Amino acid sequence: MFLQYILLAALTATVTLWQLAVATDPVWPNDKTDELERLLFEQEGFRTSEIAVFAKGCAVALGQPGRIFAAEWLRNAYHDMATADVLAGTGGMDASILYEQDRDENEGDAFLETRAAVADFQTRRSSMADLFALALVFAVGACSDGDILVPLRGGRVDATGPGPSGVPQPHEDIASHTASFARQGFNATEMIALVACGHTIGGVHDKDFPTIVPVKNSSVENSQFFDTTRSHFDNRVAIEFVDNTTNNALAVGANTTTRSDQRIFTSDGGKMIGDMAASNDYFTSTCSRLLERMINTVPRGVVLSDVVELYPVKPWFLNLGVSENRTMTLSGIVRIADALLTKSSQVRLHFNPRSGKPCSATSNPPCAVATATTADSMKSTCVYTKCPATFTYFQFKTSVPISQGVSSFIVEIMDEGGAAVTYDNGGNGFPWPDTLQPQLQLSHVDYPAHGEFNITLHLVVAVLNAEQFTSGIEAIFYEPTEPTDPQFEQIAHFSPVTVPLAMSNKLEGTNYTFYNLTYTRTRLDHTHPFDVVAKGGDGVEVSNTFNDWLKFPGSPLAIDI
Ligand SMILES: *[C@@H]1O[C@H](CO)[C@@H](O)[C@H](O)[C@H]1NC(C)=O
Ligand SMILES: *[C@@H]1O[C@H](CO)[C@@H](O)[C@H](O)[C@H]1NC(C)=O
Ligand SMILES: *[C@@H]1O[C@H](CO)[C@@H](O)[C@H](O)[C@H]1NC(C)=O
Ligand SMILES: *[C@@H]1O[C@H](CO)[C@@H](O)[C@H](O)[C@H]1NC(C)=O
Ligand SMILES: *[C@@H]1O[C@H](CO)[C@@H](O)[C@H](O)[C@H]1NC(C)=O
Ligand SMILES: *[C@@H]1O[C@H](CO)[C@@H](O)[C@H](O)[C@H]1NC(C)=O
Ligand SMILES: *[C@@H]1O[C@H](CO)[C@@H](O)[C@H](O)[C@H]1NC(C)=O
Ligand SMILES: *[C@@H]1O[C@H](CO)[C@@H](O)[C@H](O)[C@H]1NC(C)=O
Repeated sequence: MFLQYILLAALTATVTLWQLAVATDPVWPNDKTDELERLLFEQEGFRTSEIAVFAKGCAVALGQPGRIFAAEWLRNAYHDMATADVLAGTGGMDASILYEQDRDENEGDAFLETRAAVADFQTRRSSMADLFALALVFAVGACSDGDILVPLRGGRVDATGPGPSGVPQPHEDIASHTASFARQGFNATEMIALVACGHTIGGVHDKDFPTIVPVKNSSVENSQFFDTTRSHFDNRVAIEFVDNTTNNALAVGANTTTRSDQRIFTSDGGKMIGDMAASNDYFTSTCSRLLERMINTVPRGVVLSDVVELYPVKPWFLNLGVSENRTMTLSGIVRIADALLTKSSQVRLHFNPRSGKPCSATSNPPCAVATATTADSMKSTCVYTKCPATFTYFQFKTSVPISQGVSSFIVEIMDEGGAAVTYDNGGNGFPWPDTLQPQLQLSHVDYPAHGEFNITLHLVVAVLNAEQFTSGIEAIFYEPTEPTDPQFEQIAHFSPVTVPLAMSNKLEGTNYTFYNLTYTRTRLDHTHPFDVVAKGGDGVEVSNTFNDWLKFPGSPLAIDI
């Protein structure tokens, strides 16, 4: 269908080679994984979360010589999972660790530190437990410099209170450890491996465990590292144990009661730790498999998403504004993996009209094409050398008659030789239905003055053929419920707040009607994206979900396009 169209686009070039993108790429959008995809792959640079930057280089924290964030994130994930009872189907990765801070088994700052790194990104599409799993993936990725990319799934559900206790502690005997790991779903061999995987980075903090690592100087935080490559996810922990050159406090520390690694590593006669010492590949593949299982250990009834996969081409921001002059402005940003680009690639978007008919050379009116441009600052990368992808962001803006409208678009990338490849999102284009669209140019956000907290959104939405939505148009905001116990303020639980939009006016000479609302929230934190929904008879329902407040004019980070 697109053949003619692509050739047309390439006509001006000397060579008219073209090919269609790989059919196995994930299809956009996917509500379950898109937010995690962004957080996972866009690590550092243009408008990224920068979470992974804390783990960069698996480095020791600035000014805190005993502290490696990556090691803390790994420990956080294990402690969160470790109260799982796989037979009963309870516990696992559910962020309940944040309600279990007062327990001896959860000594140390790792848990609140992990929370601090990720909490701003908690949404209904990226739970705290999902973010804890993400932090583990970053930790292992950063400490292996991208060699180990633990597959990430989404969909974990955050606990609303503490779970049972049961994190293994160093003073316990081997029978107790074996039973704990079995409860978590790891047999005796897997226990050995998982402990070695957990103890290949970081060390034991003297401040938190003075009976294991004697405090040298109470004003300086000190760690006794598990192996000589404290910042590398490698099998040194196993090699040094087998060689008897280890300085792992849990294997050879002066306190024999807390030599749990010694007891665990020798519990099968030294076979598994020996295998891990013999091959770094075996070590890393075993760890990747077990850590993946660890973060996928969730309470029964929780359904995890598919593995989060990279989109080579992904719409990043789309904005549709209808005007009195009967045109609609289509603008936005598309993220493209650098592997698809050359230095002088040209990027063009081809818009299919509202009718859904794919745009072609003979379309009447002619199909709309926008040339997208980029700038030096519009790039992002990841914190590993072996990066799954780096990206360039391309910005576009064009307009089409409102009567023509838009339903979807495809992205064409042409290199300097004229060879063009089109990315059509698995065949149907990237959907952009024009029925229910927030109007950024007519909306704005009032941020409070210093010392005040209220944020007010003045939202205008354009609705096409509004008379079909007999049950009205509404916005759904998500507000964190207030903690009932101050000790439990660690995880936001979002409750929907539904607000109807009021009809404002019809846009003369078109089938669009504007609706609006004013909504004030009384806190600055957890500004969760909102949805807009239009409902009619016979189950007719159109929605426009996960609208980021930060896109709107007046927001500190509003996007000006
Ligand atoms: C643990 O499970 C693995 C398979 O995942 C198996 O190869 C190993 O023998 C098991 N170990 C024990 C002690 O049952
Ligand atoms: C060794 O560790 C155990 C468990 O933490 C503790 O009870 C004991 O006092 C420690 N022994 C020494 C000599 O510090
Ligand atoms: C402990 O560390 C502090 C801060 O670095 C230093 O000023 C002090 O001299 C140290 N004390 C000892 C006994 O080494
Ligand atoms: C391991 O090393 C320690 C200290 O260097 C030594 O006392 C011990 O005998 C060694 N053990 C073995 C099995 O070689
Ligand atoms: C229509 O109005 C929009 C918004 O004011 C403007 O950007 C666009 O250039 C106008 N188009 C025409 C054809 O006048
Ligand atoms: C903030 O909003 C609340 C609830 O809408 C309102 O009672 C209060 O007066 C507002 N405060 C300010 C400073 O606007
Ligand atoms: C919102 O709609 C009302 C009518 O329902 C109208 O009076 C008002 O001007 C509209 N506000 C904006 C910002 O469009
Ligand atoms: C409004 O919609 C009707 C029915 O779909 C259509 O016939 C008409 O042409 C539209 N009007 C405009 C101005 O687009």
